[in-house]
Amino acid sequence: MTTTLIDNIGLLVTNNPAMGDLTAERRDAAIVIEGGRIAWLGDSARAPDADERIDAGGRCVIPGFVDSHSHVVFAGDRAEEFERRMSGQSYVAGGINSTVAATRAASDETLLNGASRLVAEMRAQGTTTVEIKSGYGLTTADESRLLGVARKLTEETTYLGAHVVPREYASDPAGYVDLVTGAMLDACAPHAKWIDVFCEGGAFDVDQARSILLAGRARGLGARMHSGQLAVSGGVQLAVELGAASVDHCTFLSEADIDALAAGTTVVTALPGAEFSTRQRYLDARRLLDAGVTVAIATDCNPGSSYTTSMAFCIAVAVRNMRMSPAEAVWAATAGGAAALKRSDIGVLAVGKKADLVILDAPSYVHLAYRPGVPLVRAVLPAYPSETTESAVFLQGKGGRDTDVTF
Ligand code: NIG
Ligand code: FE
Repeated sequence: MTTTLIDNIGLLVTNNPAMGDLTAERRDAAIVIEGGRIAWLGDSARAPDADERIDAGGRCVIPGFVDSHSHVVFAGDRAEEFERRMSGQSYVAGGINSTVAATRAASDETLLNGASRLVAEMRAQGTTTVEIKSGYGLTTADESRLLGVARKLTEETTYLGAHVVPREYASDPAGYVDLVTGAMLDACAPHAKWIDVFCEGGAFDVDQARSILLAGRARGLGARMHSGQLAVSGGVQLAVELGAASVDHCTFLSEADIDALAAGTTVVTALPGAEFSTRQRYLDARRLLDAGVTVAIATDCNPGSSYTTSMAFCIAVAVRNMRMSPAEAVWAATAGGAAALKRSDIGVLAVGKKADLVILDAPSYVHLAYRPGVPLVRAVLPAYPSETTESAVFLQGKGGRDTDVTF
């Protein structure tokens, strides 16, 4: 098996999975990769020989971003809705239905092309694991074909039939919950690892959410939730009660929600892009971190509330507006995302873990927040199957072989 040495790493962020908010650092480091896993990690001066060598040129290396919340399988866009919102209208859950109409009308090929393009965008910006939800089909056939598309792009697929009650069930929401927990679940469970529900006014209430998540759990799906996006609701405490892997948004939290989260195991996934793009107030991540809650950061990439694929953008916004330190935000976007997906093989760089990593065009991870909007990803590993490790590194960056850089 080919071994690859990355040496001359100016700053290596390895992460400490146990600490929740700690970013471990190692200077002048090297990594040896074998079979997609980290085989050795230590000081550059002591690095063993390998078949190929990549000189990181003093740059910072971090674990690949783990984007644990996205809705990239859809058709159409909602730029006009965004423009109206930026002219004063507020965000409401019902906008989802316009994407549902466009998505139902789209072919599988169109949906796969659109989702693939967004996943490629993510990867070029340093994301090495992405979770993808259904939720814009809302019929048995459409939800299951959306998950079929998602499954081509990731193993982290989530059934979100309970995104919103579709128009045709407007007068019979209970009938829709029966469908979501019945025939639609039967069709979708084989394609999904997770089940999610949007527990919010205008979508599903706490009792509906409970029955949906329990039905999914009975079919072997792990629970995750959208809650607290638009107002405080009982959804956050339900997530903790059910031991959901993650409860996402959490812009609006009561003291009782924070106490419950602090006592439980559920990760809170902050979605700074959603708050940015809906011009809402921001989640106060500091309150959660100080209470000992594990916080992740994800893009929530979707055409309505957060049409970004950039984890770096989300980190910058979380640092600026959610009172997270750069180290906390980078941890949340890597190890935090892994925790939100209950994965221990990603989000950290250590011997035996997956060698999913990003070489930044920067001397420190701090630059992800310090230089907002600047493309700082020099290279992403592992290479696509069509690339060699070297071509991945040098083609995805600015091109050429000039790896020496002086900061
Ligand atoms: O996570 N909150 C619900 N779902 C998405 C929004 C989807 C949409 O507006 O199309 C979210 O923000
Ligand atoms: Fe979402």
